[in-house]
Amino acid sequence: MKTRPVRLALGLTALLLPLLTQAADKPEYAVDYRQGIMNGLAWNIAPLGKMVKGDAAFDAKRFAFLAERAAVLAPMALEAFTADTTAVKSHAKPEIYKNLDDFKKRMQDLEAGTAELAKVAKSGDEAKMRVTFGDTVKICKGCHDEYQEKH
Ligand code: HEC
Repeated sequence: MKTRPVRLALGLTALLLPLLTQAADKPEYAVDYRQGIMNGLAWNIAPLGKMVKGDAAFDAKRFAFLAERAAVLAPMALEAFTADTTAVKSHAKPEIYKNLDDFKKRMQDLEAGTAELAKVAKSGDEAKMRVTFGDTVKICKGCHDEYQEKH
């Protein structure tokens, strides 16, 4: 006989799963998701920019914390750039799906770049953190210039 907590958990799964999978199957949801990841990247990268520019005090510990988060988020966006999302309103240019190898390469560069930033930040070497931050932001900008519609 199943214990009550197990039955409760199964019941909740049965209830939630159809709702979750219905939402996740829609291209609209893929767009929401990837924009969410992009916004998460910006949320964590922007305060680093302030530190690097001198608009905020340089806090190496917080820098490392935020850089680590960006490194976790960076590999998550690619899977939601699927050709069926061109039917949905977004700021992603349809060229992405004509140049998918290039787009993927840029995402891999972002993954490597943010991982490097997180690694350098752990070392606490401020000069290196500044330089690596600049390199990372160039990867964001390079891809946006190519594949993001102007807002
Ligand atoms: C390989 C390409 C690529 C890279 C690298 C990339 N982006 Fe993006 N980004 C896009 C595309 C394409 C969109 C438009 C997505 C959409 O509208 O569905 C976008 C959208 C955004 C948005 C707007 C989200 C919204 O709600 O419309 C923000 C903010 C953003 N990116 C931040 C970043 C930051 C910060 C980085 C670097 C740490 C980064 N991106 C790196 C391709 C990229």
